[in-house]
Amino acid sequence: MKIAIIGAGNMGGAIARGIAGAIAAGQSHHTLVVSNPSEGKLNALKSAFPFIETYTDNAGAIEGADLVILAVKPWLVEQVLKEAGALLGKETILVSVAAGITLDSLENMAGEKHRAVYRAMPNTAAAVGRSMTFVAGKNTTPESDEAVKAIFENVGTVMMIEERLMAAGTSLSGCGIAYIFRFIRAMQEGGVQLGFYPKDALNIVARTMEGALKLLETNDSHPEQEIDKVTTPGGLTIKGLNTMEQAGFTNAVIQGLTRNS
Ligand SMILES: NC(=O)c1ccc[n+]([C@@H]2O[C@H](COP(=O)([O-])OP(=O)(O)OC[C@H]3O[C@@H](n4cnc5c(N)ncnc54)[C@H](OP(=O)(O)O)[C@@H]3O)[C@@H](O)[C@H]2O)c1
Repeated sequence: MKIAIIGAGNMGGAIARGIAGAIAAGQSHHTLVVSNPSEGKLNALKSAFPFIETYTDNAGAIEGADLVILAVKPWLVEQVLKEAGALLGKETILVSVAAGITLDSLENMAGEKHRAVYRAMPNTAAAVGRSMTFVAGKNTTPESDEAVKAIFENVGTVMMIEERLMAAGTSLSGCGIAYIFRFIRAMQEGGVQLGFYPKDALNIVARTMEGALKLLETNDSHPEQEIDKVTTPGGLTIKGLNTMEQAGFTNAVIQGLTRNS
């Protein structure tokens, strides 16, 4: 399969590196081409993975591609498809990672009714192979679903969802990674106030988060079950938790998550 990635920025570059890594490891046999208007990002990709074909024009990348991933800013999707959409083959699968562009508008902009079109919503952890990516499609087949899922599995975990859940997925994970960073920062700042140097505090928080996740996954448990194991009646932890709740912790998180819904 020839995969073309249009736009080699943060997201396009991360996806390209994920796919190229799998090709380099012999786990995937795709041909990968990437286009971007400026050469710097293309050269960086090419120096890491010399087998990637690079183009400064989108037409060269799209022509003959079996699957095209649009990784440009949302307001450029229409322009890119206007300029080079006619080069998409009838059977070419079109995937967009652009936030907010619906499957209907993607299908319309691509100019070919009934084309398999997908929206994918990765998060920035795609750059380190740990994205939580949501994928929704229209005019799909089990084969096209499998192809798109496999591509995004190169940069982390994939959940196939209905399009109506895309905004929720974006909030919970696309934006959610920032909320988690803010929580980490709050814990770190508290750690400094308690007497640790910032670097040590960050390391302590990171290891504690790692442990918490491992407990949830190993025990297949609800967070509250794990909390019960820490909270001695009348002890320190329950006092800390209740003080956080008095300050609106859970409410603040839910309000932030649902702010745009
Ligand atoms: N970052 C995230 O967390 C995230 C998460 C999910 C989805 N997304 C989506 O991913 C898309 C890209 O975001 P990003 O963060 O990767 O942005 P970005 O880093 O700015 O990358 C966009 C790239 O597109 C290139 N570009 C500009 N015009 C182009 C054109 N006409 N044809 C081909 N390439 C063109 C830019 O090249 P130059 O810099 O050389 O101009 C740049 O390298 C957005 O639609 C965004 O909604 C991002």
